[in-house]
Amino acid sequence: MVRSGVMAARRSLEASGLGSNPRGGARNGFGRVMSEYAVVVLAAGSGTRMKSSTPKVLHEIAGLPLIGHVLSTAHSLGATHVITVLRHEKVQIENYVKAFYPTTVIAYQDEIPGTGRAVEAALEALPKEFAGDVVVLSGDVPLLDVQSIHELLEMHREDSNAGTLISTLLPNPNGYGRILRSRESFLGIVEQKDAAPEQLSINEVNAGVYVFGVKHLANALGKVTTKNAQGEKYLTDVAALLLEQGEKVSAHVLEDIWLVAGINDRKQLSEVAKELNSRIVSAWQLSGVTIQEPETTWVDVTVTLAQDVTLLPGTRLHGFTSIGEGSVVGPDTTLVDVEVGENVSISRTEASSSKILSGAKVGPFAYIRPGTQLGKDGKIGAFVETKNAVIGDGSKVPHLSYVGDATIGTGSNIGAGTIFANYDGVNKHKTVIGSEVRTGSGNVFVAPISIGDGAYTAAGSTIRRDVEPGALALSVTPQKNLAGWVLDKRPGTKSAQAAKEAK
Ligand code: UD1
Ligand code: MG
Repeated sequence: MVRSGVMAARRSLEASGLGSNPRGGARNGFGRVMSEYAVVVLAAGSGTRMKSSTPKVLHEIAGLPLIGHVLSTAHSLGATHVITVLRHEKVQIENYVKAFYPTTVIAYQDEIPGTGRAVEAALEALPKEFAGDVVVLSGDVPLLDVQSIHELLEMHREDSNAGTLISTLLPNPNGYGRILRSRESFLGIVEQKDAAPEQLSINEVNAGVYVFGVKHLANALGKVTTKNAQGEKYLTDVAALLLEQGEKVSAHVLEDIWLVAGINDRKQLSEVAKELNSRIVSAWQLSGVTIQEPETTWVDVTVTLAQDVTLLPGTRLHGFTSIGEGSVVGPDTTLVDVEVGENVSISRTEASSSKILSGAKVGPFAYIRPGTQLGKDGKIGAFVETKNAVIGDGSKVPHLSYVGDATIGTGSNIGAGTIFANYDGVNKHKTVIGSEVRTGSGNVFVAPISIGDGAYTAAGSTIRRDVEPGALALSVTPQKNLAGWVLDKRPGTKSAQAAKEAK
């Protein structure tokens, strides 16, 4: 599932304070983070630990692929260039990047593996005259926010560093590169696979997020080798190399460990997804949404909720779903790209790519498929399936029906157990029902067909011909009762016995 408009959604998320860094204390309002800088997003790795045919950075949390979160942030930073580096499964990732972040420059890593090599490929995509700073973000670190990166840049510039990076303290540092220090001062980074046993107990880890002056970076990368446990050109080696050259490099500890959580396997994917969701849910609660059970409520970053919306347990809101003031959704309801008006109630329902206008009631147990529009104060009731159906204001489909490829005017009522037979086995056809129509229970409308305004249809009818306004359509043959049929044709049955006793 990929979606458009994520930038705007992400910006509104950041405006609402989600994903912001609780350290607070914006330095100088970022006033000096204005000079030219580039952002590089690393996404060329093979993602082997995901064990998936989907590239790691296209796995989703809160409705966006990992790289979508990182590119949203990258493009919100105000950088002069945003470059992403691809190699493994590049076609799929490139299609996504081009569709949703078309101003991103794409660079390709060659066969030499490692994050350092990836950054080299990105530097080649920068204009020769570029002399600013380079921010490096990892495509698999999705929650890092704009504010933390701006603060990193600020510190980098205030301290006149050649390189500055983010670290954090993890109770379980397994898998991450460890930060080496002598007393307070930063000495370098050692990867887990290269670490000596005593280094493995260090719990300050490298977040995989850096700023470097471009000249220092290019120069040091030229000296990085692949002589390590993984045979890779590590970006992390740049830090120690710059220090050796007498340059300043520092690591800043971010207290919020989730902001720098990297995703390498599906366990981490679900853990980070859960954390992001709990932040999204809390932020909506603080902005006036009642959420009864946060642990079972899932809301994508792209969703918008009005004040005084109520979400009942087991509600999942995905994509470009929006819900108007006073509406109650749930329990056990999933909405994907559904626009919901004000004061709507939707219970135990699955709906996608549809619109439910104000005052309408849906469910329980409705299945609303793409192209459904339910008018103001309308109803789609229990065990009703709809698809490509525009149902007018005040019209009701209360029970046990299928409404596909149809328009229904205003104020009409569809009888219980009605089927809109839209498929002739080859093609789909349309049913048009006028306003203030009353259809009987158990009808079949064989499309293409149209029922005029104010018409009635009788219970049990199969309607094959158009019905003019105001007519009553009956298609059932007159009822005949064959007296004594059961005693005659089903002798000795319990029915025959009961019939005999009733006589
Ligand atoms: C990396 C860091 C580690 C840090 C961790 C934080 C290095 C050598 N290690 O380890 O210190 O603690 O991130 O999450 O940098 N990538 C490429 N090209 C490659 C390899 C990777 O572009 O050849 C990309 C990946 O697609 C990914 C990012 O770089 O988005 C990080 O790569 P990954 O293999 O996940 O590195 P880690 O082992 O997590
Ligand atoms: Mg990683």
